[in-house]
Amino acid sequence: MKDIKNIGVIGAGMMGSEIALSFAINGYRVALKDETLELAARGKENLTKSLGKHIKKGKVTEADKAKILDAITPVGNYEELRDADFVIEAVFENLEVKQAVWSALDKVCPSDCIFATNTSSISITRLATSVKKERLGQFLGAHFFSPASIMKLVEVIPALDTTDETVQAVMDLMRKIGKEPIRVKDVVGFAVNRIFHAMLIEACRLLEEEVATPEDIDKACKLGLGHPMGPYALMDVLNNKLNLEVQEILFESYGERFRPRPNLKQRVSANHLGRATGRGWFDYSK
Ligand SMILES: NC(=O)c1ccc[n+]([C@@H]2O[C@H](COP(=O)([O-])OP(=O)(O)OC[C@H]3O[C@@H](n4cnc5c(N)ncnc54)[C@H](O)[C@@H]3O)[C@@H](O)[C@H]2O)c1
Repeated sequence: MKDIKNIGVIGAGMMGSEIALSFAINGYRVALKDETLELAARGKENLTKSLGKHIKKGKVTEADKAKILDAITPVGNYEELRDADFVIEAVFENLEVKQAVWSALDKVCPSDCIFATNTSSISITRLATSVKKERLGQFLGAHFFSPASIMKLVEVIPALDTTDETVQAVMDLMRKIGKEPIRVKDVVGFAVNRIFHAMLIEACRLLEEEVATPEDIDKACKLGLGHPMGPYALMDVLNNKLNLEVQEILFESYGERFRPRPNLKQRVSANHLGRATGRGWFDYSK
């Protein structure tokens, strides 16, 4: 397989821009595309704060900052991806939007370019049908975690027809940008979200049964299990509406064990979505 040098990232939102940063920090040139050039440029601008955190931690020097940012070129049209060796898509979590992006990329990218989607919940095999059959072997999932420039894990998910050579090339590429990839089957929720939401649902049950308060359940996970953050604080950071949506998808596939709890539904009905709305399981208004 050819050397991967030029990276394309589609979607300059929270995940896409941070994924672009992960590549740029490690010496790759990245074309960062959004629906418009302005949105792509805004995605790049938003990285200054994140880059500051890397500098503070000593992972990147102040002197490298300009070079890293220079390596990311915001682009507004697909033509600019014609030299890409690897493209990762992180646009809205919507099948039609993603299918349109992949079919446009399929027309301009070189035939040996690898395609990876960062989808959290759509079947990789289903998304792969957006590209011509000659490229099916080079299409897979690469699921990053937020904030993507900091979190080490990437779930690498082959679709039905992905070749082992492609999986290996992407696992190697992830290691080159400092990630720890794991190979996971194309099942709903992949591996991490299944473990994570099973835990969140159980945390909601503990509260319903009045076993302990949200504060104490968070304390239990931090001090008893070594988690950096408890489930209630984490749900509030992530947004309870999103938590409920993911659990509904898992429930549809796996049944009872992922049935979202009534107390989570009630938080969402009350618009207590978390930090974003000033109140979730905890109150952030003060
Ligand atoms: N947020 C998370 O913690 C997380 C974690 C892992 C994976 N994901 C997945 O990553 C993807 C992106 O999530 P996000 O949180 O960054 O969303 P986001 O809303 O922050 O960003 C999405 C970006 O895609 C752009 N976009 C939409 N349609 C486009 C198109 N046709 N062409 C180019 N750009 C387009 C939007 O303008 C926006 O900038 C989703 O598939 C999501 O499921 C999210």
